[in-house]
Amino acid sequence: MNKISLPINSKMLKKEFIYGVATASFQIEGASDKRLPCIWDTFCAKENTVADGSNGDIACDHYNRWNEDIELIDSLGVDAYRLSISWPRVITESGELNPTGVDFYLNILKELKKRNIKAFVTLYHWDLPQHLEDNGGWLNRETSYKFAQYVDLITVAFGDLVHSYATLNEPFCSAFLGYEIGVHAPGKVGREFGKKAAHHLLLAHGLAMSVLAKNSPNTLNGIVLNFTPAYAVDDKSENILAASFADDYYNQWYIKPIFDGKYPEILQELPDNCHPEIHPGDMEVISHSVDFLGINFYTRSVYKASDDDYFEELPATGKLTDIGWEVYPQAFTELLQSLNERYDLPPIYITENGAAINDKIVDNDVVDQDRIDYYQEHLLAVNVAIESGVDIQGYFAWSLMDNFEWAEGYLKRFGIVYVDYESQIRTIKNSGHAYKTLISNR
Ligand code: FCB
Repeated sequence: MNKISLPINSKMLKKEFIYGVATASFQIEGASDKRLPCIWDTFCAKENTVADGSNGDIACDHYNRWNEDIELIDSLGVDAYRLSISWPRVITESGELNPTGVDFYLNILKELKKRNIKAFVTLYHWDLPQHLEDNGGWLNRETSYKFAQYVDLITVAFGDLVHSYATLNEPFCSAFLGYEIGVHAPGKVGREFGKKAAHHLLLAHGLAMSVLAKNSPNTLNGIVLNFTPAYAVDDKSENILAASFADDYYNQWYIKPIFDGKYPEILQELPDNCHPEIHPGDMEVISHSVDFLGINFYTRSVYKASDDDYFEELPATGKLTDIGWEVYPQAFTELLQSLNERYDLPPIYITENGAAINDKIVDNDVVDQDRIDYYQEHLLAVNVAIESGVDIQGYFAWSLMDNFEWAEGYLKRFGIVYVDYESQIRTIKNSGHAYKTLISNR
């Protein structure tokens, strides 16, 4: 079966439900010489950081091929395209707009508008200007204010070309992977750093929300968070407690401040030196209202109690994708339902979902049945959540095309379009055709 199908009366088959594809600047653009350096350039240049020793210098060469890429997006029949803006491409070191960088995005946004494709713009998808990192990066409160200044300038420049702005993509990854365990840029390691960086990221989000409310009141403004639901290995109370701690530490930490104006209670249990530096008024800034919540979902994790830590994560046992993430669509439904119960949420958009598969291109065909199955199961999981009353208004496949997958380099392919990195030829995979058929059959 190389089709994706939904129940005939599904709300996801209504024209109002938005389907899109997503990418991020550093992962596809290349042309690193035409912008300021960012933390990912520096990180890639270090030894043993990226699995294949690669970098983002060329990536999918989207900087030079954006026009044909938009044609490709259009050919899939999607309603929307989620892209991110490279901060170091559009803002100079002295904090002014860089016209060349701005024009690059203006051309893209105009072309999307011409083709009636809604632009979902993410303002920060991990490519922090290196000069800001040299001043402490997200460990320095000043970076939050620098972000708000950038957002102020760029949103004025973009005028009415944008449908939706997300401030940040997955602050968990920036804070935890980047500053606590160091597997992402800037590669800092220390338990005391993670929550400090997280606080400044959330503060940046809140400050930017006020800027968006002023400069761009007619766009859908919000944030994109990722969730890896935490399951206990069994129903022993100590394991349930461990999973709940992990959930607060990895997931709720980023959503609760936005909707409840506070951090999870486990804050009290963390050592003093791990606490964020919260200034008076910060939580009010962070909990600025949002028009939508973007949710990225890929997998779940399983935990048990640990003797010498708060919890222990167990290796995944079920079916895995090529990146080692368990396929567990039921967690998607449960996540959406539980967030909906816990928080007073605005409309939700699934801003990322997809699978890494070890694709092979044979005679111009990529038979990626496992990816089609993944999309099928996860779209159905979203549909169940909608049927149970969760307000979900759109879905974006990650990703439009294979690209630089961070610490995995070019080894993991998430695209519904195959990229031959030598020739830069793009080929729509079977999953891309299936996605297109689903969309066009509405
Ligand atoms: C998410 C990132 C995205 C991509 C996918 C696979 O965490 O937002 O850039 O790497 O994972």
